[in-house]
Amino acid sequence: MKLTRSGKIALIILVVIIVAAAIGVIVYFVVYGKTPFYYHISFKINNVDYDSKFGKPYAQEYIDLNERIVSLMNKTFQASKLRRQYVKSHVVKVRQNNGKTIVDVVLKFKSCYNNNAAMFRDRAKNILLQKLTGDTGSLCIDSSSFKLSDIDTDPAENLLNMCCGRRTKMSPGNKIAGGLDSVEGEWPWQASLQQNNIHRCGATLLSNNWLLTAAHCFVNAKDPREWSVTFGLRLSDSKMKRSVKNIIIHEKYHYPDHDNDIAIVNLSKPVLYTSSIRKICLPEANYNFPPDSDVVVTGWGSRKTDGTSPNVLQKGIMKIIDTDTCNKKEVYDGAITNGMICAGFLEGRIDACQGDSGGPLVSSDSRGIWFLVGIVSWGHECALPNKPGVYTRVTYYRNWITSKTGL
Ligand code: ARG
Repeated sequence: MKLTRSGKIALIILVVIIVAAAIGVIVYFVVYGKTPFYYHISFKINNVDYDSKFGKPYAQEYIDLNERIVSLMNKTFQASKLRRQYVKSHVVKVRQNNGKTIVDVVLKFKSCYNNNAAMFRDRAKNILLQKLTGDTGSLCIDSSSFKLSDIDTDPAENLLNMCCGRRTKMSPGNKIAGGLDSVEGEWPWQASLQQNNIHRCGATLLSNNWLLTAAHCFVNAKDPREWSVTFGLRLSDSKMKRSVKNIIIHEKYHYPDHDNDIAIVNLSKPVLYTSSIRKICLPEANYNFPPDSDVVVTGWGSRKTDGTSPNVLQKGIMKIIDTDTCNKKEVYDGAITNGMICAGFLEGRIDACQGDSGGPLVSSDSRGIWFLVGIVSWGHECALPNKPGVYTRVTYYRNWITSKTGL
């Protein structure tokens, strides 16, 4: 067959269109084609006695049990026909039943076959049932107690992101005064406390409806209706916003004194946890963060005294300074009381600053779980030598926090 010149051109155009369409379809499926599926499963473990420590998400007992179950789930699905669709699983709750332990687990899958959810669910269920009635290693699972149900994306992600003090992303090194840009998900407990939609202070998420901040943020502005809370890396592009139902200021806070500079904010509606909105872990009242340990302060405060404010959340990596040093004549000359803790460097350089107030000073334990050490409270200007930041000492107010929030 002989093609005319225009016929050839038409053929080439047709081939190009077909190739482009095929690439488009492939890209679509690779990028968007996978829909997440979540299942909520629960089962009883006959050889694990319930321990009240399972109630604390940072307790080693909870972490160990979670790890044993996650590894059982990983093994089960990685050896199954759903190995390509299986994403992850996580223990979201440990309950008790007659002294025995029941675990609730959320499983996440990703699949292109979003039109056949029922079939997918049956396959996942059968794979699990088969495993749980057979060899489950050191865990004796009561397979008759096994339950599986569907769960929607948002509540499932809420459960998957419920543990405290865990971040999803990190970025290297160390504008807080002398700070560095953070990345989304690096400090997921950081919130911006806004008065009539203007950033005023930082705050820290303690649970899905409670935040901790500084009392001095509310001097002359105690009406909760003026206030809102936003989450996310950039002030200009918040990931979630909530109005404020109630503000609880420490009874013994008296402006302009710096003592008892602590307040609690109750949200009008709980947040759903996501990979970039999570809570911090609160330390026990008797916990001691030793001087010289590494801590990080985060916030959208100004970069220096009377300086400009950043849009991207800043972090400053610093050290805890012991109270005796901080109370020396040339430092704060006895102004540091039991409810305060100093952090920064005596040579200056890195410090919190105006607008960081109320925000978190945090420290990670050896497992990489982050705890709230302090609340940005005061300092003499910012990053000056011998004038480190002073923070409200969270352990000192631990029982006060419980008395207001039940946490
Ligand atoms: N009081 C300031 C505020 O309202 C923050 C003080 C922190 N200062 C410091 N140098 N660490 O934002």
